[in-house]
Amino acid sequence: MNRKAFIRICSVACVGVSTFSVLLQSCATTNYFAVAAIADNKISIKKTEFIRIENNKQVTRKYVLIKTEKLSFPICVFKLSNENYSALLMECTHKSCELQPAGDFLICPCHGSEFTNQGIVQNPPAEQNLKSFKISTDNENIYIQL
Ligand code: FES
Repeated sequence: MNRKAFIRICSVACVGVSTFSVLLQSCATTNYFAVAAIADNKISIKKTEFIRIENNKQVTRKYVLIKTEKLSFPICVFKLSNENYSALLMECTHKSCELQPAGDFLICPCHGSEFTNQGIVQNPPAEQNLKSFKISTDNENIYIQL
């Protein structure tokens, strides 16, 4: 193999690897919207919405998102423990940008504010905590009071 052919093959391989890693990253950061039922200002979702199957193994999601016509922003429901959840409006309290989930945090893409999975401000410029919703549960469901 001559030098030119070797460089061409290496270039193609580099582009392929870069493209593949970008695709993998986008898959990893895909947000899951739960199936929700709404009645009387109350949203209900199944607790099983936090479970997904990956390589024949059961994996627990840290959070699920809910979109409803009643609100301009989605709600992020975090699973804090087996019976403890939080439901937060994904509207930044600084200038109303839509927040993005990142692990146990919600991050604002506009100016970088950061909130915990309980809606508490961790990084400015936002100064106020997120709007949170009252939650109740039974054996199968999580209920969010709007
Ligand atoms: S709008 Fe979120 S930090 Fe400014």
